[in-house]
Amino acid sequence: MSYPTRRMRRLRRTPALRRLVAETRLSVDDLVAPLFVREGIDGPRPIASMPGVVQHTRESLRKEVRALADLGVPAVILFGIPAGKDAEGSAAWDPAGIAQLALSDLRDEVGDDLVVMADLCLDEYTSSGHCGVLAADGTVDNDATLDLYGRVAVAQAEAGADVVAPSGMMDGQVAAIRAALDSAGHPSTAILAYAAKFASPLYGPFRDAVDVTIAGGGDRRAYQEDFRNPREALLEVALDVAEGADMVMVKPALTYLDVIAAVRARVDVPVAAYHVSGEFSMLKAAAERGWIDGPAVALEQLTAVKRAGADIILTYLARELAETL
Ligand code: PBG
Repeated sequence: MSYPTRRMRRLRRTPALRRLVAETRLSVDDLVAPLFVREGIDGPRPIASMPGVVQHTRESLRKEVRALADLGVPAVILFGIPAGKDAEGSAAWDPAGIAQLALSDLRDEVGDDLVVMADLCLDEYTSSGHCGVLAADGTVDNDATLDLYGRVAVAQAEAGADVVAPSGMMDGQVAAIRAALDSAGHPSTAILAYAAKFASPLYGPFRDAVDVTIAGGGDRRAYQEDFRNPREALLEVALDVAEGADMVMVKPALTYLDVIAAVRARVDVPVAAYHVSGEFSMLKAAAERGWIDGPAVALEQLTAVKRAGADIILTYLARELAETL
């Protein structure tokens, strides 16, 4: 009879031993809750493709953020859904626009107890549903969009955002936003750059959440990254860090664990990953059918994102995880 020379099972024997030797620890401190606030509704509205997620009113948003702060979630990221859209997306920088009003509500509600982030993009606000303004030929005009992003950043900072998070994938957006913030007297407002944001079909449910349809059945492949290209993602991240990004993001999360790991190895700024709407909805749909144990799979998935190297995870699961972790 020969015995194993190395008994790996010794350290797996009890929950306490397993806890002691765990190499990766998912904590409430890692989480950012994405939240939606919609102009002109009387009560919170469910989002059909994202069970448990709602479009908030200003009041219900305030309550949700208070609850998240009390649960110890360190940050939220806010998306606004305006009542009306126009070609430039002007509600995005209107001081009386829904996102700005909600940002100042939150600042007032939680003070410095919680980090208030603002997604910085135009797609919720433009009639085309694109992340920028269109040139005469119908393509998204990069440099004209940068000027608008600068205005949005300043409006969000003035409303009380601690962090602005540009998600439009325009070239030079981080530098343009940094310059706009600095010259408007907001040198302390930080930038979380959606640096490696891939053109992903996993954003489908999110577009229901923010009522965005891209005009003419178009897509974002002319500005978001091609998912075949991990080296290009590293170049995007390097450019954003050089332009002054305080933190960088990889998005989506589970389909890009290789990119998260590579980015973590390359840069010294905090690395975030966004577990996006489609990732959330797939999990919820399978759990609803009883095909998987939802909370257990959620824990495994987000631990994988952490293990790949993310310091920060944006997830629609933030509240339920905070209640159980
Ligand atoms: C753009 C934006 C999107 C998401 C976050 N910011 C959608 C897109 O690029 O089409 C997706 C988030 C998700 O799917 O959860 N403002």
